[in-house]
Amino acid sequence: MQDILDVLKTRRSIRKYKEDPVPEELIDRVIEAGLCAPTGMNRQETIILKITDPETVRTLGIINGKRMGKDEFDAFYGAPAVLAVLSAKDSPTALFDGCSVISNMLNEAASLGLGGCWIHRGKEQFETEEGAAILKKAGIDPDQYEGVDNVIIGYIDGEMPAPHPVKDGRVFRIE
Ligand SMILES: Cc1cc2nc3c(=O)[nH]c(=O)nc-3n(C[C@H](O)[C@H](O)[C@H](O)COP(=O)(O)O)c2cc1C
Repeated sequence: MQDILDVLKTRRSIRKYKEDPVPEELIDRVIEAGLCAPTGMNRQETIILKITDPETVRTLGIINGKRMGKDEFDAFYGAPAVLAVLSAKDSPTALFDGCSVISNMLNEAASLGLGGCWIHRGKEQFETEEGAAILKKAGIDPDQYEGVDNVIIGYIDGEMPAPHPVKDGRVFRIE
């Protein structure tokens, strides 16, 4: 049996990236991990928008940054690729399924030695006119799908930060 606990324990959020693009086959492995994530009743209604075109990655990063109230702030930290996760609006487990997909992708990125970070405001970024235009360009209907959140990936510029200490007192039991 394979144990992924070491990957889970050492994964950290990365916020500084080299410009180097990530090879397609690595990005696709990350996506594959997302696609096999558990979803409510195995509906698999979550989709992934892979963006590697530098201009579009930056445009969406800036749109996202604006939703934080920061002008001209790239909320994707210069990462060369973003995997935006969206769920069918009418799915009763849309948010949960999206988070499940995002977690799988983040952990797979870490296991491949890539840097990654979960980036919020995935819903709001696509509610803008500019954001919806990006969806339409990819053939995604903004009336049918809503953003959940994003995974940015790339090569780490600098050192991998040390693992976080895990807070005590978060497990309760009845035996
Ligand atoms: C729901 C969620 C939203 C997050 N949104 C952002 C974000 O918008 N920007 C960011 O830099 N990090 C974001 N993060 C990353 C967290 O800040 C990070 O996971 C947390 O500080 C723990 O650090 P670690 O991932 O290095 O262990 C998000 C994480 C989660 C789970």
